[in-house]
Amino acid sequence: MATDMRREKNTVESILSTIRSLNQIKGVDMILDRILFESRRLANADAGSIYLLKDNKLVFSNVQNDSLFGSRGAGAALYADSVLPVSSETVVGHSALTKETVVIDDAYNLDPDVPYTFQSSFDEESHYHSRSILTIPLINSNDALVGVIQLINARDEHGQITTFSEHSKTMAFLFANSAAVIIEHGLLNRETILRMVRMAALHDPKETGAHVQRVSTFSAEIYQRWAEKKGIPDQEIKNFRDLISLAAMSHDAGKVGISDTILKKPAKLTDEEFGVMKRHTIYGAQLFTDAATELDKMTYEVILHHHEKWNGKGYPGKVEHCEGTECSRSLAGEEIPLAARIVALADVFDALSSSRCYKEPWEKEKVYDVIRSESGKHFDPELVEVFFEIIDILCAVQRKYQ
Ligand code: C2E
Ligand code: SIN
Ligand code: SIN
Ligand code: FE
Ligand code: FE
Repeated sequence: MATDMRREKNTVESILSTIRSLNQIKGVDMILDRILFESRRLANADAGSIYLLKDNKLVFSNVQNDSLFGSRGAGAALYADSVLPVSSETVVGHSALTKETVVIDDAYNLDPDVPYTFQSSFDEESHYHSRSILTIPLINSNDALVGVIQLINARDEHGQITTFSEHSKTMAFLFANSAAVIIEHGLLNRETILRMVRMAALHDPKETGAHVQRVSTFSAEIYQRWAEKKGIPDQEIKNFRDLISLAAMSHDAGKVGISDTILKKPAKLTDEEFGVMKRHTIYGAQLFTDAATELDKMTYEVILHHHEKWNGKGYPGKVEHCEGTECSRSLAGEEIPLAARIVALADVFDALSSSRCYKEPWEKEKVYDVIRSESGKHFDPELVEVFFEIIDILCAVQRKYQ
């Protein structure tokens, strides 16, 4: 299992370093080329193409095929003018229309119930044989479609064509969706990297966008009052406040590594499922292990420790299948970084007050009762005190970011 984690960690790190190096590249064509190349590498796919949305049509914009062209991009001109409608006729069109990933194990043996058909004209013209297909919509931070990336013919370690594994699907999905922002901007800076990492975590943009914004603002407000009471200098307050409002946004970034079956389960998780769910702290923290700045460092602490409890009964601690990683035991009291203690309270307050796929929102009074009774157990008692002092502000924040 340690090997598995190491592999994931290496993959995530290589995604991030690739994203950073994209910074050097100018021009959308080069960027598309690199994105397609890296996505194919992550999923070990023999071929792939990118379609970009223009005037509500999908324009074929880049193609790579190891078997046919060898070196990348060589045959792009061949298919340069092909355009597909955004409709369920084709696999790419269907993925664009529904904004859903389409996974096909055998293109020539499609389930008769699927709405799309596989277009074999590419295969016929080029004497290629497509079998497994992974089609991922590229969605930007406003939840709008930018294009579609299609990977063809996953290969196993012997180079034999196989189906796309869960791991490769997750990694290609993470990368492709980060890429949507790069494609859109055609350039990249540090802020964009942060945004991409966050965006990649948004399995469910409808729910998490506002949740992320609220948890960020609650955290900043709770910190501000706590720090004022402590007599912390204004400049330090301002600095920490800026950091925590950004760091808090990424607290659940690691949920991208959790399968949708668990994440979107409309019922209570089993112990086993919850065991898997707990890994979101460690997965997310891995994105920030090479902490270069104060913000990276705080983001790492928040992601890793936002489910710790004041009484030491939280996690990650020892998370199953994550041996040998960042944590070997749960933290307690002031061992838990302040920013993580604050985000823990903000996150639970928001989770209880909002609807989730597995629960209805709770009545205000019931939420307050739980938070009060968890003071000194789940939460830092000083922070709970501050929480009730600024409850009016917190409720106003809630009304603003519905
Ligand atoms: P989340 O939905 O953002 O919830 C964050 C935290 O709020 C939870 O951390 C928990 O401390 C608190 N919380 C949320 N709902 C409830 C509730 O109904 N009762 C109580 N007492 N506390 C609540 P936790 O438990 O570590 O869960 C982490 C994440 O795991 C959750 O994030 C959610 O994504 C997922 N999760 C937890 N339980 C379930 C479940 O029963 N079904 C599903 N589908 N997901 C769950
Ligand atoms: C982003 O653009 O930052 C992703 C959306 C979000 O953080 O809610
Ligand atoms: C979420 O709360 O699931 C989104 C996390 C993030 O935007 O980093
Ligand atoms: Fe969490
Ligand atoms: Fe959360």
